[in-house]
Amino acid sequence: MKAYTKTKYGGPEILQLEEVEKPSLKDDHILVRVMANSANPADWHILRGKPFFARFSFGLFKPKDKIPGADFAGIVAEVGNNVAHFKVGDRVFGETLKGGAFAEYICAPATVCAIMPEGIDFPVMASVPIAGITALQALITHGQLKAGESILINGSSGGVGHFAVQIAKAYGAKVTAVCSSRNIAFVKALGADIAIPYDKVNIHQNDGSYDLIVDTHGNLSHNDYKRMGQRGVMVGFTTMGHMISLLLKRAFSKFPLVQFTAEANTKDLETLSSLIQIGKIEVHIEKTYSYKEIPEAIKYIEAMRAKGKVAMVWEDVDSKR
Ligand SMILES: NC(=O)c1ccc[n+]([C@@H]2O[C@H](COP(=O)([O-])OP(=O)(O)OC[C@H]3O[C@@H](n4cnc5c(N)ncnc54)[C@H](OP(=O)(O)O)[C@@H]3O)[C@@H](O)[C@H]2O)c1
Repeated sequence: MKAYTKTKYGGPEILQLEEVEKPSLKDDHILVRVMANSANPADWHILRGKPFFARFSFGLFKPKDKIPGADFAGIVAEVGNNVAHFKVGDRVFGETLKGGAFAEYICAPATVCAIMPEGIDFPVMASVPIAGITALQALITHGQLKAGESILINGSSGGVGHFAVQIAKAYGAKVTAVCSSRNIAFVKALGADIAIPYDKVNIHQNDGSYDLIVDTHGNLSHNDYKRMGQRGVMVGFTTMGHMISLLLKRAFSKFPLVQFTAEANTKDLETLSSLIQIGKIEVHIEKTYSYKEIPEAIKYIEAMRAKGKVAMVWEDVDSKR
């Protein structure tokens, strides 16, 4: 099968598209013929081995896992022992941070996959797992968002942010979305009640008052959380220094501030799938690349200015830019 491979840490240019052995099926896993992927900041973090502490998970001197890629959607080709939930021919989507998705086939644990909703395309569902799960868990699992509450989402126009705005609305919250001026109309179309352009209004001086603050961008200070919110959830981070300072201040404060790493599971993927099927979430794909351009897709996402999601398809198609 065709797959991207890496043997050292580096930028997207180190990726090689080559012929490798199809992965063999394992117990509790399904073998999926990959039809589409999406790109996430996690792809370039893992590719570059940054921040450095991530190398304790992904390999200290060189990457442990040869094939990159986390988000995928495709068709079940084989089903391993102990898997009851899936059968050959099912259309599924899922994610695994252990990699393996930027390939024609992936062997993935069944617990991080779910059935795709009827009538929805592979690139759309490949765009859901990491960003959608992160938004859902930030708002609901960790943020405990309730109907009628107010939420401020800093970084509302990217992969995670555009899901977060729509999930918050679906759960009945009043949403204030922070993004650049060029994306104000976009986040309002997603359902935001109020949009704040961070390049015109200094968010660090915003005196709004919200039940929950979710920061996907990762530049809010501990004072920002305390000044504006009753509780907070940190999703992304801009620099290690900023993250460490937030965590230190959190340790000496009573303000409820959660920092978490999203974990894929079938139940949360099914929740997202239902919200898509009933039209509460519309997945916005800004760019679609051919599998031959996966390094370019990662390069694009590395600029951290994506509007919604970036998808890649395992077909010989001209890129739709
Ligand atoms: N904790 C976890 O488990 C977890 C899981 C997934 C992702 N993450 C992290 O969450 C972050 C976002 O991920 P993503 O997939 O949404 O990334 P993305 O799709 O690349 O989106 C990045 C967004 O950041 C916005 N942005 C840039 N500068 C900003 C600023 N000064 N203020 C507010 N927003 C700004 C951009 O909006 P404009 O173009 O409008 O500026 C863009 O929409 C990343 O750091 C990622 O590593 C964490």
